Amino acid sequence: MTLQHLLDKQYFEKEDIVQLLATEGEEMQQLLQKAREVKFARLDNYVHLRGLIELSNICRKSCLYCGVRSDNHKVDRYELTEDEVLECAQMAHKLGYGSVAIQSGERNDKAFVEKITRLVKRIKEIDNGALGITLSLGEQSDEVYQEWFEAGAHRYLLRIESSNEELYYKIHPHDERHDFARRLACIDSLLKIGYQTGTGVMVGLPFQTLDVLAEDLLFFKKKDVAMVGMGPFIPHPDTPLYQYANQIPSAEDRMNLTLKMIAVLRLMMPEINMVAATANQTVDPMGREKAIMAGANVIMPNMTPNEYREDYLIYPDKACVSDKPEECYSCLDIRMKAIGHQILYNAWGDSVAFTKKISKLVN
Ligand code: 5AD
Ligand code: FES
Repeated sequence: MTLQHLLDKQYFEKEDIVQLLATEGEEMQQLLQKAREVKFARLDNYVHLRGLIELSNICRKSCLYCGVRSDNHKVDRYELTEDEVLECAQMAHKLGYGSVAIQSGERNDKAFVEKITRLVKRIKEIDNGALGITLSLGEQSDEVYQEWFEAGAHRYLLRIESSNEELYYKIHPHDERHDFARRLACIDSLLKIGYQTGTGVMVGLPFQTLDVLAEDLLFFKKKDVAMVGMGPFIPHPDTPLYQYANQIPSAEDRMNLTLKMIAVLRLMMPEINMVAATANQTVDPMGREKAIMAGANVIMPNMTPNEYREDYLIYPDKACVSDKPEECYSCLDIRMKAIGHQILYNAWGDSVAFTKKISKLVN
């Protein structure tokens, strides 16, 4: 099928997606442009911000790709106090970001769960609930997800990392703490509770094929998620997956593949929120802009106090680690204007796909 025919299709079969993910050069540019046009038509040129607060790098898991995995003993572990988190949230509000995202290594203990509940409630008290709250705190019980939802969190990110079970177990230990079925069940639980649920995958992993990536996109569609985050895999020297660093696509190819994944998904799910992940900017100084131009519409500027950022290196050479929040603020505004986009300040920036789905259910 010609590219033009493909791009005009209403629904993509797996083979269509594989063909689109394999495009290069001029054809790839046509795909990215089509995705951008669809985004402008459905969501305008707005970019939404979530001030990212990296609460703690203490983690019970040991994913084979992740720099802060529990088996990496080189990492200094830290945890922000409630007041520190509150200060970050207040700063995000002051800068007009509209939403915060709290991310942390995974913990299930009672003290952690209760701390999050209190934090969500306290953040909600800032200016009468002015800030939207996204949580990204890993796998939890249905009850805990429910408790945090009732406290006021309304979005939750839990990347599936790979929707292909075989690949999942190549990038995670195969044990009770890293269970594919459990991860799927968590995503279902979040959807059922009513969170705007986000998921996603890393792109350019060892053993990952275009077929598997196409299945990932179909998985997002089947689950009808509200948000997706996808970024290039970046090998971390202190992790087991680093041994394959010379067997994965080049940084440029991982970047391009990420852009194609974003673009194809924008065609498949035109009104979801899609983040231009920081990992994009790590492999390419213009990576976030490129992701926005390929169909992404959310950016998560880092609000973590600078002294802790060096300890939250999920992957090496993370972008913006030494920038102050105020610097990111003006930097982003200028960068987005330069590519014909505008940041929508002082708004939650909810997923349009989700808002429409809910209003259909209610009416
Ligand atoms: N490269 C790129 N992304 C990574 N993540 C974890 N480790 C890496 C890495 N080495 C991503 C995972 C996780 C998110 C918080 O960061 O997808 O869900
Ligand atoms: Fe699992 Fe960090 S140990 S993502």
